[in-house]
Amino acid sequence: MANNQKLEPFDIILFGGTGDLAMRKLMRAMYRRVCAGQIPKGSKIIGVARADLTRQQYLEQVRSRVEKYLNPNEFVPQHWEVFAGFVDYVRVDATVTADFERLATAFAGREDTVRVIFLSMAPSLFTAACENLSITKMVTPKTRVVLEKPLGKDRASAHAINDLVGSIFTEKQIYRIDHYLGKEAVQNLMALRFGNTLFEPLWRRGRISHVQITVAEQVGVEGRGDFYDQTGALRDMVQSHLLQLLCIIAMEPPPSSDPDAVRDEKLKVLRSLKPIVDGDVTTRTVRGQYKAGASDGKPVVGYLEEPGVPLDSTTETFVALKVEVETWRWAGVPFYLRTGKRLPDQVAEIVITFEQVPHAIYETSRSAGPNQLVIQLQPQETITLNILAKTPGEVMRLRPVNLELHLSDGFKEKSLDAYERLITDVAKGNLTLFMRRDELDAAWAWIDPIREGWLQSDESPRHYIAGTWGPAASSALISRDGFTWHGET
Ligand code: BG6
Repeated sequence: MANNQKLEPFDIILFGGTGDLAMRKLMRAMYRRVCAGQIPKGSKIIGVARADLTRQQYLEQVRSRVEKYLNPNEFVPQHWEVFAGFVDYVRVDATVTADFERLATAFAGREDTVRVIFLSMAPSLFTAACENLSITKMVTPKTRVVLEKPLGKDRASAHAINDLVGSIFTEKQIYRIDHYLGKEAVQNLMALRFGNTLFEPLWRRGRISHVQITVAEQVGVEGRGDFYDQTGALRDMVQSHLLQLLCIIAMEPPPSSDPDAVRDEKLKVLRSLKPIVDGDVTTRTVRGQYKAGASDGKPVVGYLEEPGVPLDSTTETFVALKVEVETWRWAGVPFYLRTGKRLPDQVAEIVITFEQVPHAIYETSRSAGPNQLVIQLQPQETITLNILAKTPGEVMRLRPVNLELHLSDGFKEKSLDAYERLITDVAKGNLTLFMRRDELDAAWAWIDPIREGWLQSDESPRHYIAGTWGPAASSALISRDGFTWHGET
């Protein structure tokens, strides 16, 4: 029931309507919400792009992609007909004001309806699109604008975009998306920390020895070579998804679930990150680039052979970092972050490793390792607490055993995919799961010196073979402190 709260009719205008994100995720999300009966009659879903397409041609494109990306048996022709009834297409070049006049005509008389403008296109076009929306009076008090990540390519460009967008929309009308925040598993992290008392006394220095955050992908750049080469793993994944996960793990309990109360606490974490500057880039960061290898047993090309990638590219497809949060709670507790493409597994997980017993009365209690809490966000949503137990027999020999919770087993409700959740939140006007301007600014302020350090160093990214866990230097980064990556022996 909670998944299907009634919404007021709303209009959603998808800029970049023929692009990869719209076709792969946004339309699928809208289709699913239509199937769930959550999109009320009178709503409109308008795809907008530069291609000269009729509504019928657009619908055919959307249908083939939605069908492809749904789960088996999820596509139902009758539901498609209902969904198609909401969809239309308008050809618009984001830089041409006259095109926006036609869009404005299509929305004349709908000023009182919530209007969601989803900018799922290159961030370099955000400002032109917003200016043209403003000139053609498309921005009503009920308009909300959704900005896809990466917002800018560094702090200065993000600042320029935010200034311009902020001159047209109020902060409460701006929804900066990081789709990780829409994932059920990520919200469950908040529930684990702030809905339970069990872990809170342990959630600090003195109890936790270190934290690992891994977001590994088996896929390569998936035909997005052009985009990816100008972005790289640091800006594509760390600046957004990994830092947001770190914030949720490291933040202080907010006084309430109010969007600003939560965002205030995340901001404090971002501002407490110890800068990685100058020589630190060689000791606290590792960047890598994949060479040809294998994925899922099949041969795959190296990054430099991917379409759209220049042969001399030094863009990183892997990053590992040692991060320090300079607060009373976390002083001296390292956070190790790693992410990469063409790794052996498609997995996102957070591993909290607790301190060793202060005094080992059993010989094996140290060699068996400390307790760990492993929170897997995907592909499965599981929480595993690793504790030591006695191996049956005469001798007091300890061995780790797992207490494992599969979150999907505990509930019969179906969870929403991240974009389903986030789009409905925009329609409802709920900002909690979106990034505030100051959060984004603080994230860029911490990321920029790392990139500058890399640019100044004469080292190129280290190579790793596709299908392995990144360059050897990534294991060295963590083993220098006496730890190993979870899953690595
Ligand atoms: C996107 C990145 O934000 O997240 C992609 O641009 C990446 O490069 C994707 O593949 C990963 O998202 P998910 O939900 O598949 O883990």
